[in-house]
Amino acid sequence: MSSVKVMLVVSLFIPAVRLNSDLFELECLPTVGIFAQTTTIKCVFKDISNINMVAVSLRKAEQNKTCFTEEKSRRSGEPRFRLENFKAGPSLTISNTMFSDEGKYVYRVLTNSGDKEVQLSISVEAKYKNPVTSTWPEHVTDGGPVSLYCNATDGYPEGFIHWFDRSGTNWTVNSELTKAPKDISGVKSVALSSKLAFKTINLDLAPFRCIVFNSKYEQDGDNTLEITSARSDVNEHSSGSNTTNIVAGVMVIGSLIVGLLFALLCFRKGRAKGYESGRPDEDDLENGDSSLEKPQQ
Ligand SMILES: *[C@@H]1O[C@H](CO)[C@@H](O)[C@H](O)[C@H]1NC(C)=O
Ligand SMILES: *[C@@H]1O[C@H](CO)[C@@H](O)[C@H](O)[C@H]1NC(C)=O
Ligand SMILES: *[C@@H]1O[C@H](CO)[C@@H](O)[C@H](O)[C@H]1NC(C)=O
Repeated sequence: MSSVKVMLVVSLFIPAVRLNSDLFELECLPTVGIFAQTTTIKCVFKDISNINMVAVSLRKAEQNKTCFTEEKSRRSGEPRFRLENFKAGPSLTISNTMFSDEGKYVYRVLTNSGDKEVQLSISVEAKYKNPVTSTWPEHVTDGGPVSLYCNATDGYPEGFIHWFDRSGTNWTVNSELTKAPKDISGVKSVALSSKLAFKTINLDLAPFRCIVFNSKYEQDGDNTLEITSARSDVNEHSSGSNTTNIVAGVMVIGSLIVGLLFALLCFRKGRAKGYESGRPDEDDLENGDSSLEKPQQ
């Protein structure tokens, strides 16, 4: 019933279209949608305050067929499209945005003050998934060759990967970015793989961090690449023996000090005795020497 009414209104207004179209402006912002999410196409009436929507229709610019229409109580065409709020204005929403929604559209809005047609454009992007990292070879030797990899998938359009070391130094210029575009039944993506190769790696620079940016240089994700040293076992052993050496050193020095104290004590006692017995001091000094040597064995 209402569709009949709208048809009537439409036919009534059609002769008035060209007459009344100067009464107001209709503006829609260029829209970037995110794949699989809800996209809002912001549209506003300008230069008019009291205006009521009657019906809207949308078609792809290069096609003649309308892909979506909405009147007060009736919607037809693509079910993912709808007016955000019929009473509030001409803004549109697309739920579960698809790459096939990309393109230029002609949007027609019929109001109680006449109708208007505008062009609007929609592009669709996808966020890159958290990047995964790897090294080749898997176990890295300090001073040896290594390639660091940082791979990100499922994003669209082409993004970027930047590299930083532990101190925040930018290594991106030394890296090589490979882009593999994919289109799996209309789901577009670009697989990114960044390789940072070293002929001789200084492991003091680790860990490295890679950051994934979308096509507009907005950060989509990052990851930190821990490097497993092939000599980590050896290093642990050597640091272990280092500790032993330190402990041994401390013990030797400690013994020396104790020995010296002992020697001093004996020396003084001996001297006291020597004075009593009249024996020469040298013997006691020799005794002191032997007590010095004892802990060293
Ligand atoms: C749209 O319509 C015009 C004229 O009615 C026709 O020439 C053109 O081929 C049509 N385009 C498509 C994509 O159907
Ligand atoms: C990243 O991509 C490179 C090149 O395709 C590959 O050699 C490497 O194994 C990948 N790493 C991971 C963790 O997927
Ligand atoms: C890192 O280097 C790349 C390539 O030279 C550059 O585009 C980027 O802006 C730099 N990033 C920072 C944070 O300096």
